[in-house]
Amino acid sequence: MVALIILPVIGLLALKPPAYWHPPADSQIPAGAKGQQIRYGRELIAHTAKYLGPKGSVRQLSNGMNCQNCHLDAGTKILGNNYSAVYSTYPKFRERSGSVETIVKRVSDCFERSLGGKAPDSASREMQAIVAYMQWLGMDVQKGQRPDGVGLAKLTYLDRAADSTKGRLVYVAKCQVCHGATGEGMKVAGAREYVYPPMWGPNSYNDGAGLYRLSGFAGYVKNNMPFGSNYTNPQLTDEESWDVAAFINSMPRPHKEQTADWPGIKNKPVDFPFGPYADQFNEKQHKFGPFQPIADARKVK
Ligand code: HEC
Ligand code: HEC
Repeated sequence: MVALIILPVIGLLALKPPAYWHPPADSQIPAGAKGQQIRYGRELIAHTAKYLGPKGSVRQLSNGMNCQNCHLDAGTKILGNNYSAVYSTYPKFRERSGSVETIVKRVSDCFERSLGGKAPDSASREMQAIVAYMQWLGMDVQKGQRPDGVGLAKLTYLDRAADSTKGRLVYVAKCQVCHGATGEGMKVAGAREYVYPPMWGPNSYNDGAGLYRLSGFAGYVKNNMPFGSNYTNPQLTDEESWDVAAFINSMPRPHKEQTADWPGIKNKPVDFPFGPYADQFNEKQHKFGPFQPIADARKVK
């Protein structure tokens, strides 16, 4: 009898979803100058191009995308590349640069790669506001902690190479209606911001960006695209996510000189598509997979 009552309770506990992070409420934004700075930081994340894009009202530094295009809901969405762990984990050592990076350095990286441009100066009102917003977002996260649901999902590797031919079919069926047949996105004539951001071409993220790695792209779209989906109702299978990533990252986009990245070449991620490598796999396999044999070969060493 007792077991009949207790077992279902244990069952329910096991099914309980992880306690995902919640962003602080707007009512927790302080009054006064600090609060205004935080709100301006959020505005810059959501509408970057309005202020800093090709027709930006403050300065013209970036490609016309918004930070929010990839850090959804101003960097608060679970598995939508949220900023919950920025304040708690920076400064930190990163293998890509081989150095300890501050928040300003990490934000600048996305300006230079995802937004294909230049970052505002570290002392500028804009950079200070972005940092203040990230600090405010992370105020309930303990130093060193990375909450569940931070960043992007890590999808299981396929046991084959991701297939851009299949990915093209996914794109035509599920993405093109918004992002366009030629990947150019959609902008209302004269507007400073996109309605639908570009997928490839001169105004898209460059090949030094996190989305240019297949795991980054696949992990992003799995729980976030088509727009409106989320981790509780993903619309793409893992295979579709990897294949559409292969298609989009096979299309032309700006190049970033990045030979100084990953100074420890044995630390390059398995899906970093530019050699030289510390292993015997070629650039093609490092770009499209299969990735498991690369990961396995590293474990043996
Ligand atoms: C094209 C997509 C894209 C755009 C646009 C973009 N980012 Fe990112 N950003 C990423 C990806 C991908 C990562 C790495 C996520 C991972 O590795 O889990 C990242 C990581 C970050 C991080 C580190 C997060 C952490 O927890 O370590 C910060 C901070 C950041 N971006 C800020 C910005 C800012 C500020 C902007 C706008 C100026 C911006 N990003 C625009 C894709 C983008
Ligand atoms: C209903 C319209 C719609 C559909 C369909 C759609 N997207 Fe998006 N997508 C968006 C919007 C809107 C954003 C920007 C979100 C924001 O700023 O809040 C976006 C952002 C993105 C981004 C990050 C920004 C960039 O331009 O690099 C990627 C990558 C992406 N979508 C891929 C896809 C893929 C792949 C599909 C198909 C599986 C897809 N999308 C389907 C509307 C759509």
